[in-house]
Amino acid sequence: MSDQRLEIRYRCMHPSCVVNCREGVIAVDEEFFKELSSHYEEEDMFRSPKGFCRLGFSQPYKVLTLEPLVDEEPVQLDPELEDADPIGILMAEHRDILGMLEKLENLVRKRDAHALWAYTAEVENALMVHSGLKEEEVLFPAIKSVMELSDVLVTIIKEDHREILSLLHNFRTALQEGDLIDGCLRSMIVSLRSHIRKENYEFFDIVDKGIPPELKLSILKGMDEIAKLYEPIVAGPLVVKRNPKREMFNDEADAIKDLANVDTGCTC
Ligand SMILES: [Fe+2]
Ligand SMILES: [Fe+2]
Repeated sequence: MSDQRLEIRYRCMHPSCVVNCREGVIAVDEEFFKELSSHYEEEDMFRSPKGFCRLGFSQPYKVLTLEPLVDEEPVQLDPELEDADPIGILMAEHRDILGMLEKLENLVRKRDAHALWAYTAEVENALMVHSGLKEEEVLFPAIKSVMELSDVLVTIIKEDHREILSLLHNFRTALQEGDLIDGCLRSMIVSLRSHIRKENYEFFDIVDKGIPPELKLSILKGMDEIAKLYEPIVAGPLVVKRNPKREMFNDEADAIKDLANVDTGCTC
């Protein structure tokens, strides 16, 4: 027996139907529809199912349109995501980001501006996908409906994201102006490590326990889809354009340093 469901838009042909149900939509199994239409010779006529007519009779219904009912598409995931869970994926990305921070520290030690320019773009791309999209655009809105504490936690986490990205931007902008402000990048690294610790050991632990399994699946799908939409920034070669205001500030700072180093002849 076919279990195909049909969606039928119908018109009731009863000449004196007084209830406002002359036209409507009904969904029935294909086999049942065959039985209902067997009462008429015309192919486009069928008898209304029991109890369907509000007057309580079986009425002659005319088919206006008839389409197979398509079930809502089940959530489809890339095969490698099927056994994964969203928090597991985010924590794996944390490990990748921590690896990137180690490489950044090496580049800062070498003070290689060109390599830092290129690599900080990669770090920014990784953070935008991980924090800006997967966490802020997919995970946080999803947990809002199932967790009472989430608003407070999400605000704290988002503030961290803003601070980290702003430090990274400041560092990159300074590179374009010919300055390598390693203190700024080191602050970003410290903040990001502490942020990852906060998520791994506090935030994600609470979130993981609060997400029902069916929500995990839709979060996974959302994260997978949104990551594919991201257009990564391409660093290109580092072109330095000196900022005259910054130059003036540096000159003044150098003059003050020189003044402070003047040998006054004092021996005390
Ligand atoms: Fe994270
Ligand atoms: Fe985060």
